[in-house]
Amino acid sequence: MICDIEMHNTPADGLQITPADGLQPPLSSNVIPKFRMEFNMAEKQITSEWTGIKGKIMAWGLSNPLMRRFEFLLIGDYMSTFLREVFHIIKDNQVILDVGAGSGYFSLAVAKKLSTGKVICLDLSEIMLQHLEHNAEKKSLRDRIQILRAEASSSGLEDESVDLVFSNFVFHELSNPETVLSEIFRVLKPRGWVIITDFKRDTLIGNLIGAFHREAHGPFRVNELDTLLAKVGLSSVKIRQGRQYIIGLGRK
Ligand SMILES: C[S@@+](CC[C@H](N)C(=O)[O-])C[C@H]1O[C@@H](n2cnc3c(N)ncnc32)[C@H](O)[C@@H]1O
Repeated sequence: MICDIEMHNTPADGLQITPADGLQPPLSSNVIPKFRMEFNMAEKQITSEWTGIKGKIMAWGLSNPLMRRFEFLLIGDYMSTFLREVFHIIKDNQVILDVGAGSGYFSLAVAKKLSTGKVICLDLSEIMLQHLEHNAEKKSLRDRIQILRAEASSSGLEDESVDLVFSNFVFHELSNPETVLSEIFRVLKPRGWVIITDFKRDTLIGNLIGAFHREAHGPFRVNELDTLLAKVGLSSVKIRQGRQYIIGLGRK
């Protein structure tokens, strides 16, 4: 069963969460029920790049293990580095946010390791989130995820409510990466970690991806990501890199 939670943003009151069916707001309770939230989508009229048949194909490809293996061959094994960092940081019972979760390849890999924590799966694309929900049901992980349809720069989540934020292969699609990172910083608890994985600029794949996303930021150079993480206030900034990918880490 999916329960709806309506969220309203009013200038006077800030964010208000109106739980449907008597549910509590998402992050004020230790026991978080299955639910789906949308934050201000209609009001803001924000559209996703991943709609229609293009969205369906991408959602399928992103959650297909064979396609991901092919991607490893092309850009290197970022997955092992990413999961090693995440599993080193997370503890059970934590709230984790996946920004641009897509069809859930990473959200579900992390959710599988949790017994009591939750992964909030934020994405703009309804098609991606439908696939994510379907994949979570198939893997019996629906209870460990929350689906949040929202723009990454205004998540609607409470201040300092999340223990770890990760975002994989999303930042090159953003036109406002600094605003999104500031939002991530806002929702992160003190001492919480951020992990950003993306294609690396000035590489074969990075240049190709950049050509498809001319209106967005495109892939980052190592020093650009390093500077951006520090600029929004993160400390202990580290960059890991492979042939065609970079992983940036920072702590609040
Ligand atoms: C290339 S996909 C990566 C998905 C997933 N992280 C993965 O690696 O499988 C990028 C995702 O970011 C989402 N996205 C892009 N810009 C966004 C934004 N401004 N707010 C929320 N989601 C966004 C897209 O809808 C898409 O699902």
